[in-house]
Amino acid sequence: SGLDAKIKSKGKKYVGFATDQGDFSKSTDVNILRTESGCLTPENSMKWDATEPSQGSFNFAAADALVNFATSNGKMIRGHNLLWHNQLPQWVKNINNKATLTSVIQNHAATVAGRYKGKIYAWDVANEVVADGGGMRSSVFSQVFGDWTFLDVVFKAAKAADPNAKLCLNDYNINFSGAKLNTFVQVVKDLKSRGVPIDCVGTQTHTSVGGSDIPNFKNTLTTLAGTGCEVQITELDIAMPSTSTTSALLAQQSSDYKTIVSACMGTSACAGITVWGIGDSESWITGKHPLLFDDSYAKKPAYQGFLDGINS
Ligand code: G3I
Repeated sequence: SGLDAKIKSKGKKYVGFATDQGDFSKSTDVNILRTESGCLTPENSMKWDATEPSQGSFNFAAADALVNFATSNGKMIRGHNLLWHNQLPQWVKNINNKATLTSVIQNHAATVAGRYKGKIYAWDVANEVVADGGGMRSSVFSQVFGDWTFLDVVFKAAKAADPNAKLCLNDYNINFSGAKLNTFVQVVKDLKSRGVPIDCVGTQTHTSVGGSDIPNFKNTLTTLAGTGCEVQITELDIAMPSTSTTSALLAQQSSDYKTIVSACMGTSACAGITVWGIGDSESWITGKHPLLFDDSYAKKPAYQGFLDGINS
């Protein structure tokens, strides 16, 4: 009956939502996850700062709660993430030696991905490694390695830890910037040519009502599909221009959700869509009502737009 069942009936793999432990004690969130979602992404609980806050000392309480909720409710899981410059503990940022950083990445990926082996549909192995204007983002990883081969290290470690999980490269604004998208695609092609295991590409797709990227989104997905990888929309939200909502803006937001979902439906490589949160009040974009359910967890026009996109 919900969005996930509907998209599966049209041959796609899932509709998912970002969530975490705090939501599982709220019946509003739980009801929506059970009805509408086939896949859960931990919004924060699997990140490096949460799982390995100090070197070699792992904390899986919150991540385990997400995995247990998902498996007991029959939901797929997208692991998020094994390597990212943000929410990265200072002890990692302080490493200035390649051999040390290599073994630290290997140990982190082996331990986190290994703990959930066989339970994760896809891992965001590396997140946001491309700079906004194209080229390599500056981070401890790029600075210490001096090239992209830190990706080889983390993808190979993830493959060894959980051989059946799909391994993704994930990024934002590749729907807006040609230069960023070009670098992203080139990085994926280079990984493949070096024999590095990569199965999927994620476009986060944080965007805004009436965004210039939206009419072009089908082209973005086609370009991503050109890598030969499975394509996933991993963090979809469509923010209002301000905190005020009007019926016209709600209608435009609905139309924008329809356009984006329809682009996925029309792209055979596009496997699934994750929305970055459940109710508007829980979104990381404070006050800009970017999601499918309002502050009272009622379906917004955006929900109908999403459904229309599936049916388009
Ligand atoms: O856990 C601490 C808590 O101990 C502390 O008391 C509290 C006080 O501020 O902060 C809590 O940490 C917050 C964390 O979310 C968990 O709630 C951080 O301040 C806050 O910055 C963090 O925000 C997350 C953000 O990533 C951080 O970069 C958002 O929830 C999360 O939605 C967002 O998700 C990212 C994706 O991972 C990657 N793509 C972009 C996307 C949106 O920024």
